[in-house]
Amino acid sequence: MEVFDTINETQKHLKSSQNKTIGFVPTMGALHHGHIALIKKSFAENDLTVCSIFVNPTQFNNPEDLKKYPRTLDEDCKMLEEAGCDVVFAPTAEEMYPNLPQIKLNFGYLEEIMEGKFRPGHFNGVGIVVAKLFHIVKPNKTYFGQKDIQQVAVINRLIKDFSFDLEMIVCDTIRENDGLAMSSRNRRLSDEARAMAPKIYESLKLGEKLLLAGESIESVKSKISDFYRTYSEFELEYYEITDFESLESISKISPERKTAIIIAAHLGGVRLIDNYIF
Ligand code: PAF
Repeated sequence: MEVFDTINETQKHLKSSQNKTIGFVPTMGALHHGHIALIKKSFAENDLTVCSIFVNPTQFNNPEDLKKYPRTLDEDCKMLEEAGCDVVFAPTAEEMYPNLPQIKLNFGYLEEIMEGKFRPGHFNGVGIVVAKLFHIVKPNKTYFGQKDIQQVAVINRLIKDFSFDLEMIVCDTIRENDGLAMSSRNRRLSDEARAMAPKIYESLKLGEKLLLAGESIESVKSKISDFYRTYSEFELEYYEITDFESLESISKISPERKTAIIIAAHLGGVRLIDNYIF
């Protein structure tokens, strides 16, 4: 496995592997089994697998969150090599942004809801860095996790609006045995917070159960607010019930379309997101 920290070296190496199909997994490092599942899928479907590791400063609207984001490059590289990754691109912020980008991306409705609403500027940062990475790596396929459901919608838009000639593959959320969705942020949870964290998945499953039993959206949301009031360790940011495709709020569930229940909550100073599709 080759590890590069410059755009030049990465592109030179990838150009020498002409005619090989490239699968690309963009990450911010602190890898877990969810990332590794994406790498393994790419390995199975492409000649070459490239992973980027870059904690992108422009997508953090909270400087404390950026500072605390785990950085574990050596450990990450070991996991990537074992999973069959061929190339790691791990640039510095100066390499990616010799000048701060002046361009601004606006993803319309997606900016106004959930992650867009609570993290202003976040998707501008994600969109710009992912577009830059697509230009650098020129992949045939790119792999993203369903856990970041709104990010998937944003990248879909980015690919369509900029006519990137590549296919996005969305992979299922990988969970711990107790239901907690795998996330790089989980390693920042204290033992007490980690023990409480599966409540997030529990609240998604509870939402599904209530909806399937015929409860209205309002009643489910109100019961979930009560659920989190009983667990004062959590600060619920949002709990939305939406159409799976458009991510627009729905007034009732329907057998004709998939529903997504999407949550963000703070637990012990760590912001966690998750979702459940049914
Ligand atoms: O999902 C992430 O880890 C990041 O948002 C991404 C896609 C690597 C862009 O920095």
